[in-house]
Amino acid sequence: MDRATSPYSPGAGVPPLVISGRDDELDLWRSTVRRAETGRHARGVVIHGLRGVGKTVLLGKMREEVERRDWVVASLEAGGDAADFRRQLGDRLYPAMRSLAKPNMGSRLRRALSTFSMFNVEVDAEGTWKFGIDLDPTPPPSGNLELDLLTLATDLAEAMKDQGAGVAIFIDEMQDLDNTTLAALCAVVHQASQRTLPFMICGAGLPSLPRVLSEAKSYSERLFEYRAIGALARTDASRALVDPASDERVSWEDDALATVLGASNGYPFFLQELGQATWEAAPGPSTITFGDARVGVAEGRHRLDVGFFLSRWERATQAERTYLTVMAEDGDGPSLTKDVADRLSRSPASLGPTRANLIAKGLIFAPEHGRIAYTVPGMADFIRRQKRN
Ligand SMILES: Nc1ncnc2c1ncn2[C@@H]1O[C@H](COP(=O)(O)OP(=O)(O)O)[C@@H](O)[C@H]1O
Ligand SMILES: [Mg+2]
Repeated sequence: MDRATSPYSPGAGVPPLVISGRDDELDLWRSTVRRAETGRHARGVVIHGLRGVGKTVLLGKMREEVERRDWVVASLEAGGDAADFRRQLGDRLYPAMRSLAKPNMGSRLRRALSTFSMFNVEVDAEGTWKFGIDLDPTPPPSGNLELDLLTLATDLAEAMKDQGAGVAIFIDEMQDLDNTTLAALCAVVHQASQRTLPFMICGAGLPSLPRVLSEAKSYSERLFEYRAIGALARTDASRALVDPASDERVSWEDDALATVLGASNGYPFFLQELGQATWEAAPGPSTITFGDARVGVAEGRHRLDVGFFLSRWERATQAERTYLTVMAEDGDGPSLTKDVADRLSRSPASLGPTRANLIAKGLIFAPEHGRIAYTVPGMADFIRRQKRN
């Protein structure tokens, strides 16, 4: 069948037609939002998991929920230093702030807008963040991210609280924030929650994110609701394949479905990639057969190898590939850094820079001290296949 009619959505952050198996997380978020709107204590949600499990898509869905409820919302992707964070936050908040600016707005909102236009005064020399409305002058920012963010969060959340709404900031790849920014965010969330202000930070990142946050501020465990997401349970994975197809009046035969479910291990990205390849392999017009699934899985795996896995492999230097290769002895891991060093007849310390570069490139992460794992499921098998070829 034609790729153009395929109801599957392989690709980073590409929303699937059916977001399957994430009802618990979405219900948690909806109740959090309602608590915040009614002046109750509410904690932001932090989603963590390997690449391709659907974190970005889930964060986007959470964002939609609060956008519908007229919250002030900003989404950003981590990377860079505290100054980058400040600039990105300003840029991403600006459209929401602009739409709040009305000549007859209340004094709290007026103050929040004024604080916002000062927030980034150093990097906003051209004065792009203006509202065409006279605002009362507020004190200049201190230049300290934590202090300035606290002022902004407080003024903005107080103004939104008056309107029965709140402020939500969504940060993807949150494990990549630098320590200054993480510590500042935690401190601000902490203070806002003590005053039950509707100011939420929600994050998504690798499984190392909870550890990274607790290293930034020891009390961070209490600041967020942490949720690990991973492969979908079998019924949810089935729905992810069957429901989008039935919208197109196409059905899956049982053994075809079992073949793609088995080959994808329930990982959302793999389901989409193998689902799409199977769709294209099937002559149709209304049934996907076992034979189609076998062809589709072979083609889909090839696409994963030359796209998803190879792009990661090619990002690594020769020394880094050697490191990744000896990790593969532990399957999908995690591996002990000590074992990796032993296999290479090196000291763990001398491999520190290689390990750090692989982490910076997003290829591995440290689930806990002294351990290391691939950021994508199936990497060990891919490396074994590379070695054979
Ligand atoms: N709950 C889900 N059900 C079905 N497919 C999903 C689900 N969540 C994500 N996907 C698909 O998985 C792929 C990866 O999603 P993404 O959000 O980019 O993952 P991550 O951010 O964890 O790397 C995309 O192709 C997306 O369409
Ligand atoms: Mg993502």
